[in-house]
Amino acid sequence: MVRLEIKNLKFSYNSKPVLKNINIKVSPGKITAVIGPNAAGKSTLLKCIAGIIRPEGNILIEGKEINTIKKDNITKLVSYLTQESSARAVLSVFEVVLLGRLHSLSWKVDDDDLEVVWGILKELGIHKLASRHFNELSGGQRQMVSIAQALVREPKILLLDEPTNNLDLQHQLEIFDLIRELSVERNITTIITLHQLNMAARCADELVILNNGEVYAAGKPESVLTSEMVRSVYGVNARVNIGEDDGIPQIIPINSVRSKRLA
Ligand SMILES: Nc1ncnc2c1ncn2[C@@H]1O[C@H](COP(=O)(O)OP(=O)(O)OP(=O)(O)O)[C@@H](O)[C@H]1O
Ligand SMILES: [Mg+2]
Repeated sequence: MVRLEIKNLKFSYNSKPVLKNINIKVSPGKITAVIGPNAAGKSTLLKCIAGIIRPEGNILIEGKEINTIKKDNITKLVSYLTQESSARAVLSVFEVVLLGRLHSLSWKVDDDDLEVVWGILKELGIHKLASRHFNELSGGQRQMVSIAQALVREPKILLLDEPTNNLDLQHQLEIFDLIRELSVERNITTIITLHQLNMAARCADELVILNNGEVYAAGKPESVLTSEMVRSVYGVNARVNIGEDDGIPQIIPINSVRSKRLA
């Protein structure tokens, strides 16, 4: 079954093409990591899927064209964590996460909402922060709260733009493990963008390598994470080791290749 299908998607900012003919299919319960250099178009792609910007081509959610789905219903289906976290000065952590349950203006809080919020805070290990003001938190703590806000919606499609920004190594691993667990358990289609290639290989079922607004390669980590790809997309010479136990590829950068792109 395909939960999300992107067909011939194109998008331009002020007539400058940023996404060119993107085709992607994603199943429920699977994690896809979109990786690629800065300005490749990763965040723009997530904004298209979240219904924030309108591209050419088709985005189908469970076979239904996104343009025909009401905005309220898109926010019920799709949860989107932006790359830029905005400070919500006067709210407590609990309130910020509770806002994630807001699907429409005719919204009332019931015990169910409170329970789900509390459950997610506990699962992420940030329940002790519940009454703290959001603007008093460290960058990493804010990031954890923003992730909780995305998860608390219980979406069918979860879009996370660089979810582990500001997180230390332990929290990065914990978040990726949790995202894996939740995606499988709750049958969520998850798309994340991130820059750490080795982390992407570890946590994603499929990788989509975006370069200059085009899909350079897509598939299982072991088939797309090659030294040719790293050289041609990132301008970096690298070795790729395949883990003996788990078969997961690991990129070991050697040096940067001077190229026109970097000059
Ligand atoms: N609101 C905007 N108006 C005009 N151009 C934009 C806008 N947002 C992004 N762009 C341009 O679109 C291109 C793709 O940007 P995007 O944010 O999708 O890249 P990205 O792959 O997410 O990069 P990063 O890894 O740095 O987050 C860039 O050239 C960027 O300058
Ligand atoms: Mg981005």
